[in-house]
Order: sequence, then structure tokens, then C-alpha cells
Amino acid sequence: MTHTAHGCQDGERVVIFDTTLRDGEQSPGASMTLEEKLEVAELLDQLGVDIIEAGFPIASPGDFESVCEVARRVKNATVAGLARASEKDIDRCAEALREAKRARIHTFISTSPVHMKYKLQMEPARVLELVASSVGRARNQVADVEWSAEDGTRTEIDFLCRCVETAIKAGATTINIPDTVGYTTPQEYEQLFRTVRERVPNSDKAIFSVHCHDDLGLAVANSLAGVRGGARQVECTINGLGERAGNAAMEEIVMALKTRHDILPYHTNIDATLLTRASKLVSAVTSFPVQYNKAIVGRNAFAHESGIHQDGMLKNAHTYEIMTPESVGVTKTSLVMGKHSGRHAFREKLKELGYDLGENALQDAFNRFKDLADRKKFVYDEDLVALVDDEIVSA
Ligand code: KIV
Ligand code: ZN
Repeated sequence: MTHTAHGCQDGERVVIFDTTLRDGEQSPGASMTLEEKLEVAELLDQLGVDIIEAGFPIASPGDFESVCEVARRVKNATVAGLARASEKDIDRCAEALREAKRARIHTFISTSPVHMKYKLQMEPARVLELVASSVGRARNQVADVEWSAEDGTRTEIDFLCRCVETAIKAGATTINIPDTVGYTTPQEYEQLFRTVRERVPNSDKAIFSVHCHDDLGLAVANSLAGVRGGARQVECTINGLGERAGNAAMEEIVMALKTRHDILPYHTNIDATLLTRASKLVSAVTSFPVQYNKAIVGRNAFAHESGIHQDGMLKNAHTYEIMTPESVGVTKTSLVMGKHSGRHAFREKLKELGYDLGENALQDAFNRFKDLADRKKFVYDEDLVALVDDEIVSA
């Protein structure tokens, strides 16, 4: 087994495509200033993200400028920009990426019946023509071109295969099949990748990619299923930021691959110890709070309050933790003192605060702590100090 600074490197490599600055920023109220985007991009680069989607250059002068600036500053990752299947979009995107060390044009068009009929108001034959012309135009400007079938999971399979075949023929190097509206399920998504890869000639010439939204809370499960179906790029965002219910959360994908390497034998290049920092930064610049019980990066992700759990944790951390807090950049597990806490954790907490009480005093203090915890939602260290000092004075 090969181990590096970023963990186990066994199994096939999965490329991480971060779209916090593009799809994440499309989340209502999540817009970031140029300076904030640059700070996030720098940290994403440090994290080891392979591709940073920096924005949608045609969308506004501000978006164009931030893609240019991210492209100029990022040292290691490929920088991608988004473009619809139009000449103007693609040329503007190429222009924004001009100074990138490695540039990718990501072009997309809708392929599902409902999108083609109502949104694009185009016949499938016209969509196919645009797939060929947009990918071809992008390929004339950069070597790395990603093509996405928007609303791919609600696309008729024969048509999806024809579009993918056309995109590969025109030079696409990555084929993304997004679950744009968070509609699919793990089994179905895995099978979709198997079918498309089997049926499309020369499918091995492109890397297949997952891009999942979380409308049914399945974005991470679907992404992992897509990888099992043969995808080797995962599109995701920090904290799962994104349109409506959000995108697949990078921290969850990375830690699922690390923690369940036994059944998901793939690795990424991500330095997981920076995940908490990235989560805090994205939360701060977007003013989107991270829910307390959010997997991996929520403030309760490594906190234990119940007496049974605290007792187990004090005996062996494997009892209630499947990964270490340090592995995602959290200094340590916290045993939170509350009404569910037991004597074992209470004694340890007092020791940590510098108190070593005899059995009777400990029991008295513990009883008073329980009374307090029934009245107070959070019991802080200061409350415990006051409670024990009272105990010592009245003894
Ligand atoms: O969800 C989606 O389909 C997208 C595409 C533009 C890739 O974000
Ligand atoms: Zn999306």
C-alpha cells in the first residue's frame, strides 16, 4: 500500500473539479468579491484540487475579470471557465483563460426533452450540431475541453449517447453528465455511466465526470455511484454550496473515499487536513453558515455529549469516531458538557481544568452540574469552574 502526505494512494485516481467559484457562487446570496474569490482559489490550489472552475466569463465584466485573475494567480491547478454552446461565450472564455498555466473550456448545452423544448426551443438535431460546433471551436483555442450534457440524467439514453459520441469526435477530453436537478438515484446513475461508456465508440478517449445537485439529499451518494460506474472526475463544492439545495460537498466525497477505501478503492490528490479551513473560509466569504451537524466540517462533527458516547470515547476513540478530527484539520475531539454527559467525562473535564476532587466532592459537584445542565443549553468551562469553586468553598 502506498502512503503519501495526503494519505493512501492506492486504487485509481479520481480528479477533483471544484466549482465553488462558479456553481457555488450561483447560489442566491453567495456572491463573492474578486479578493474573496482569489483567497478561495489560492486555498483550493493548496488543497490539491485538480481543476478550479473560476466562473462564467460571459456572464458579467466582474465574472470575466475574476476568471482572468484566478487564471493568472493559480500555480498548480487547471483553471476552467464555463461557456454556453455559442461562439461569443467560447471566445470570451478563451480570452479570460489566456494567462492560465493550464486552461480548460467547459462548454455545455441541455439535452433533455424538457430543456430542449421549453428552454432552448430547439430540435434535437440542432442541439447535436451545436455540440459539434461548440466543442470544435473550444478545441481550436485550448487542448483541454470539457463538454456537459445539461440535465443529462433526464435525457433519453440514445440521444445522450449520440451527443457524447459527437462531443468526443469533436475533441472533448472530458465528458460530464450532470444530474442538474438532483433527480437521479445511486443505482440509476452508476448504470447510466456504465451504459454510456459501453455504447459510445471511443469512450475511452475521454474522462467521464459526475456533477450532482442535492435536491433529494443524494448528491454525494450519486457522485460516488458515478465513480463506481466509471467516472474519474468529480465536480463538487466546498460545504456543498450551490444552486437550490447545493452541489455535492467536496469534504464528504474526499473523506468517504478515504474512510471507505475498502469498498471505494480510489484516491484523490486532496490534502484533507485543509478541509476545515476551506469550509470556514467559504462560509465566511459567502456569509452562509455551516449547519452544526454538517458531515465532516460541522461544529458538532467531532463533538460528543451523551454520557455513553463520552465514556466510550475516553476508553477508545474508535468507539464513536470513524475518522480522526486531525485528519480534516480539527485540533481535537470535543466532549461537550451537557445534561446527557456522564461522570467519567465530567471527571476528565475537571482534570483538564486543573481540579482533582475526592469521590464525595466529585459526586456533589456532579449533581449540581446535572441541575445546571437541565436549566442551561450550553455549559461552558467557566460554569464548571464556578460550580467547583463553590463546592470547594462550601466544603
Ligand atoms: O448542473 C449543471 O448541469 C451545471 C452545468 C453547467 C454543468 O452546472
Ligand atoms: Zn450544476
